[in-house]
Amino acid sequence: MGARVNFLIAYATTEGQTDKIARYMAATLTEEGHEVRFHNVSDLSGGLTVTDYDKVIVAGSVHSGKHQPDLELFAFANRERLNQVPGLLVSVSLAAAFPDTLNEARGYVDTLLEATHWKPVQVILIAGAVKPGNYDWFEKSALLEGDLAGHLNEDLQDTREFTDWDALKQQVAEFTRS
Ligand SMILES: Cc1cc2nc3c(=O)[nH]c(=O)nc-3n(C[C@H](O)[C@H](O)[C@H](O)COP(=O)(O)O)c2cc1C
Repeated sequence: MGARVNFLIAYATTEGQTDKIARYMAATLTEEGHEVRFHNVSDLSGGLTVTDYDKVIVAGSVHSGKHQPDLELFAFANRERLNQVPGLLVSVSLAAAFPDTLNEARGYVDTLLEATHWKPVQVILIAGAVKPGNYDWFEKSALLEGDLAGHLNEDLQDTREFTDWDALKQQVAEFTRS
């Protein structure tokens, strides 16, 4: 096993899938003997200094083309310190699930990084989930707009998870080794 790494995982979630993804990463890293501080960026209590960690993972999900405003604010407010430590951005979206919408998933990341001036050393585009039981009419309409609609018509009945857990684990391991 390699050296013990002190990680910060800072995340935002709207329907819970990024929370699940962040917890999975934390569990995997802890199992491997690393140290993890787990932080929801919407929780403003308590001091947090990103340079206190060896590596930082920032995770958030996309709704109507944008990551959570709280995530954007966190990355922007901490941009100088974030740029001093190796960073990994984990961007959760449905566009990441399909080859013909991957470019959209990349576009969401470009928008976030341009707005925040944060330069992570690695980016993971990871597919999230659809949970139609939790959505109101407006949320369903938002999801069915654009290129994703073709993939979702039949899936907007039941909860469906698109997240590829093994691929996530491999890419996080790459970041740990880098
Ligand atoms: C109202 C709504 C809008 C969404 N808009 C997009 C979108 O523009 N592009 C995309 O790729 N995924 C979109 N998604 C899919 C989410 O990124 C996906 O459900 C993800 O798992 C949500 O993560 P969370 O549970 O951590 O909030 C949308 C989901 C909802 C509910």
